[in-house]
Amino acid sequence: MAAIRCRWILLQSAFVWCSQAVFNRPNEIKLENNEYTDVLVAIHKDVPEDQQIVDRLKEIFIEASQDLYVATNNRTFFKEVKILIPNTWTKKPEYLPAGTKTFERANVRVDRPNPLYVDNPYVQQKGGCGEPGDYMHLTPKYVLDKEYGEELWGPHGKTLVHEWGHLRWGLFDEYGFDDPLGGSYPHFYASTTSMPAIQPVRCSAYTAGSPMHAVTLNRCDLDRETGLPEANCRFVPDFRGNRATGSYMFMQFLPQVTGFCHSDPEGDPLSYHNREAPNKQNVMCNGQSAWDVMNKHQDFDSGANPPRSGERIRLLNQVATRFIRNTVSLGTSVGVVTFSSTASIRHPVVSVNSEAVRNDLIAAVPTSTGGGTCIGCGLRKGIEALETTGPPHGSVILLLTDGGDSRPYVSEVLPDLLTKEIIVDTVAISQNADDRLESLAEGTGGLSFFSGNGDSIALDNAFTATFEENAESKGVNLLSEEQTISGRQTYANHLYVDNSVGENTTFSFSWLDGSRPTVMMVTPLGLVITEGHSMYDVTSDTITIAIPATATPGKWTYNITNNGPGNQDITIIATSNPVNNNEPITVTAQVSTVSLDYSSSRPTALKMFASVRKGYLPVLGAAVKVLIKKPDGQVEEITLLDNGAGADVTKNDGIYSRYFYNFTADGRYGVSVRADNTQGRAEYIVINNTRGTGALPMDPGTAYVNGSNVQREPLEQFQRMTTGGVFEVRGVPSGGANTDMLPPSRVDDLKVVEVSYGNSTVTLSWTAQGDDFDQGGPARYVEIRYGRHFEQLLDNFTSSASVNHSQVLQGSLTSPPEPGSAQTIVILVPDRGDNVTFVFAVRTCDEADNCGDRSNIVSANLEYIDVPSPEPMTVNDTTPLTNSTELVTVNYTTPLATSAEPVKVIDATRLATIVGSVVGSILALVIVALALCYCKRSRSAKYSLSASGRVNPTYAV
Ligand SMILES: *[C@@H]1O[C@H](CO)[C@@H](O)[C@H](O)[C@H]1NC(C)=O
Ligand SMILES: *[C@@H]1O[C@H](CO)[C@@H](O)[C@H](O)[C@H]1NC(C)=O
Ligand SMILES: *[C@@H]1O[C@H](CO)[C@@H](O)[C@H](O)[C@H]1NC(C)=O
Ligand SMILES: *[C@@H]1O[C@H](CO)[C@@H](O)[C@H](O)[C@H]1NC(C)=O
Repeated sequence: MAAIRCRWILLQSAFVWCSQAVFNRPNEIKLENNEYTDVLVAIHKDVPEDQQIVDRLKEIFIEASQDLYVATNNRTFFKEVKILIPNTWTKKPEYLPAGTKTFERANVRVDRPNPLYVDNPYVQQKGGCGEPGDYMHLTPKYVLDKEYGEELWGPHGKTLVHEWGHLRWGLFDEYGFDDPLGGSYPHFYASTTSMPAIQPVRCSAYTAGSPMHAVTLNRCDLDRETGLPEANCRFVPDFRGNRATGSYMFMQFLPQVTGFCHSDPEGDPLSYHNREAPNKQNVMCNGQSAWDVMNKHQDFDSGANPPRSGERIRLLNQVATRFIRNTVSLGTSVGVVTFSSTASIRHPVVSVNSEAVRNDLIAAVPTSTGGGTCIGCGLRKGIEALETTGPPHGSVILLLTDGGDSRPYVSEVLPDLLTKEIIVDTVAISQNADDRLESLAEGTGGLSFFSGNGDSIALDNAFTATFEENAESKGVNLLSEEQTISGRQTYANHLYVDNSVGENTTFSFSWLDGSRPTVMMVTPLGLVITEGHSMYDVTSDTITIAIPATATPGKWTYNITNNGPGNQDITIIATSNPVNNNEPITVTAQVSTVSLDYSSSRPTALKMFASVRKGYLPVLGAAVKVLIKKPDGQVEEITLLDNGAGADVTKNDGIYSRYFYNFTADGRYGVSVRADNTQGRAEYIVINNTRGTGALPMDPGTAYVNGSNVQREPLEQFQRMTTGGVFEVRGVPSGGANTDMLPPSRVDDLKVVEVSYGNSTVTLSWTAQGDDFDQGGPARYVEIRYGRHFEQLLDNFTSSASVNHSQVLQGSLTSPPEPGSAQTIVILVPDRGDNVTFVFAVRTCDEADNCGDRSNIVSANLEYIDVPSPEPMTVNDTTPLTNSTELVTVNYTTPLATSAEPVKVIDATRLATIVGSVVGSILALVIVALALCYCKRSRSAKYSLSASGRVNPTYAV
C-alpha cells in the first residue's frame, strides 16, 4: 500500500539518527475490570526458533493467571497476553503485525541468560518501593524445560506471580540473599518480639522449617562477630505440613502459599506480615507489607475515581500541551484542527521554530468540548490545513477522540487520505473497543492507541510514539551532542572508540541554518579526514563521515569550524555497531518523571538514572555524568552513583542514580548522560553460576550459596553519550529552589558489622547521605536511636533513646563524611547477656535541622557465644507473632481468565511497517486533531539534544 510504503521510507530517512534513541518506556499494561490486557512478552531474535517456547509461554500464563487471581483475592488476572515473535522466525498466518511492540519495550523478555542469574527468573527493578520494574527476564531453558524449572523454583505459574509482584507493584524480596556485588540481605536476625531471639528472615512467621548449613547440610553454628548463624546457614522450609499461606515474595514454591503478606489484623493470620525481618521488602518499603504497597498502587487504590468526560478534555489538553512543549522538536510543522459537529482550523500548520510558536499552538488546543463528533469533518479539515503548506504526502494527522462518527463518515474520507498518502495516528479515549479508529490507522499505515480513564502516561506515550517509531537495532550510540558555535570559531572535541564496537562507524554533523561548517577529524592512526576526502560526504544540512569496515579503537579527535558570522547550532552524532557480535557497552538514561510541580512545602526533586551495561551484565565503576540543560541555558553536571544509597536502590547493578533538585526557573530541562572510563576504574563482571534478586530456588544449596566465582575485569577506555529526554518543572520560586529545606536522604543500608559481648559494643555502618538528599556536601549530624523493642523504634523513632557522645567509642555523630562514603560507628550499649537484643536506626540531619527519614532497623544480640555453640540452633518450632491457630482453607478456583483466550500471538516481521494494536471504542464526545507533518522537517533538527528534544525517556539499545 502506498501509505505504508511512504511511512517505511520515512523511517529510513527521518529516523536514521535515532536508531538508538529508542522510545524506551516499557509497554503499557492495562488493567480494567480485573483484566490485565496488553501484557507484552517478547522473544529475542537470537533465541533459536522453537515453536514450543510459544506454547509453553501460553501454558505458563494460563497457570499464572489462576494463581494471580487467588493471590489478589479475585481482583486481577491475565486476560490478554501478546507474544512478540522475532522476525527471523517462520511467519505464520495467525501472526498479527507488531505495531509499536518491540523487544526493548516488552514487559517480559525471553532471552539468553543474564550470566549473573543464569536461568533464574528475575525482574530488573531500579525504582523504589511501589515503583514498577523495567522487565521480567525468562530464559528459553526455563520456559521450555518444565521439569527443570519446577524442580528449582516451583510451579512456573507461581514463580511468575512472584515476579509480577516486582514488575507490576514494585514489591521486593522477603527472603535474605547473598549478592556477590554487594547488595546482600541477611538470612537471620535477632528479634525483640519472639522467642528464640534468633529468627530466620521469613514472611509470614508461620513458615515452618529449620536452619541448615547449606554446604555441609549440618546444623549451624553461631558467628562470634555478629551473634547470628554463620554465613552459609540457611532456613530450609518444611514442605509438608507448612501452614503459612504467605508469602509470594518469600517462598512462592511452598504448596500452601497462595497469597501475599498483609497487615490486616482481621485477615488471614497465616499470611500476616513480619515487619521485623530485615529483608529488602521491609528495608525499601519501611516495614510495609506487600499488600500495604499493593493497596497504594493504581491497580488497587480504592480512592481512585475514573475521571468524567469533563476531566477528560482537561487531561487531553494537558497532554497535548506537554506534547507541543516538549516532544515536538524544532523544525517540525504542526497545526491544530478541532472538530465537533463541524471542524475548524484552530491554528494553521506552521514550522515550530521558537517558543512563541509553541505557545501559540498550545493556546489553540481546545479546553472545552462541543457537541457531536464528526471525525470525517475533522479529517477533511486536517487535510485542508496540511495542503495550505504544500503537498501533504507523508504527513501525519494525530487524531484524538472519544466520540462517535457522523457524516461524512471516516470511510468516505479514507480514499482521499490514501491518495494523498497521509498517515493517521489515532488515540481513542474511552473504555470499550472499537475497530473504526484502528482500521483508519491501519489503513493509512498509522499507529493507534487507546487511553483508559485518566491515564496520562498512555496518552504521553501515544503522542511520543507518533514521533518515534523504532526498529530494533544493534547499533550503539557513541555520542550525541549539540553545540552552539560562535561566528568563525572552531569547536574541538574527541571520542574514544572501544574495541567492543567499531563496525560501520558514522559521524554526522548537522546544522539548521547558516553556511556549511568545516569538520576536521583525526583518527587514532593519525589520518586526517576533511573536505575532499572520500569518506567525507556533504549534503545541504549534514556532513557525514562514514568509516568503512571497523574503526580503529582509540581516540578520534574532531573539530568543527563555523564559517559564518553568526552563531550556529550543530548536532553531532556518532553511531557504531558491535564487532563480531561482541556484546557492546550500552548506556540508557531516564528521569523519574517528565513533569513536576514545585512545592514550597515539600521537598521537590526527581531521580536520574543511567544504566551502563555490557549485554545484561553491569559495568561497575564507570564515570557517569548527567548534564542538565536548564531553561536559562546553564548546564549543571551531576555524577550518578551505583552505591545502593540515596536514589540508588541496588548497589553495583549497573544502574547509576542520583537526585536532582537544583531547579532554577520554570520551564524545560534537557537531560543528557555521558558515561566513560576516564577514571580508569570501570570493570565488568565475568562469572557463572550465581544469583541475585529473583525467585527463590527451593534448594538453598543450589544456585545461590557462594558467589565467589564472580570476577571483575578492568575495561579499557570507552565513551558513550545518550539523551535522557526532557522534563518540565512549574512553580519554581523566583531565585530558584530553596535547598535549605531539603533533608538528607533516608539511609537504607544500615548494617550491624560486629557485635562484641566482651566490650558490650555494637558496630554499625551505612552509606553517608548529603546535606541535601544524597549530595550537597556532608550532612551536619547523625542521630542514632535504639531500644529493646522493635515496634517501639519502628513506630516511635523520635521518642526512643538516642545514642549520646559518650557511648560512641569510634566514629563521630557530628562530622559525617562526604555523601556516598561509608560511615562506621562503634557504640557502647548499656546491657548484655541472655535475651539482650538491641534494635538500632539512624537518620541524618542538616544544619537547618531538616532530618531524613528513619533508616531501616537492624538488631544485635548481646548474648555470650561459645564457639562452637553448645546447642544446635533451631527454629523448627515456629513461634508466630500472632497466636491464632485457625487454619484457613483456600479455594483454588478457576478464574475467568481461562475462559477467554488469554494468549495472543503477534509477529515482529512487520515491525517497521507499523500498525498499532490497541484501541478502545468510540464513546461520546469530541476532541482535537493535531496535524503534524514531520516528514517535511529537517532530519538534523529532530534529534538535537537541546531541551527542544523529545520527552523522556530514551535510550541506547
Ligand atoms: C473468589 O471467587 C471464588 C469464586 O470464583 C469465591 O468462591 C471466593 O470466595 C472468592 N474469593 C474472594 C477473596 O473473594
Ligand atoms: C556494515 O556495512 C556493510 C556494507 O554496507 C554491510 O554489509 C554490513 O551488514 C554492515 N554491518 C552492520 C553490523 O551493520
Ligand atoms: C582542527 O584539527 C586539525 C587536525 O588536527 C588541525 O590541523 C587544525 O589546526 C584544527 N583547527 C583548529 C582551528 O584548531
Ligand atoms: C544550582 O544552580 C545554579 C544555577 O544554575 C548554579 O549556579 C549552582 O552552582 C547550582 N548548585 C549546585 C549545588 O550545583
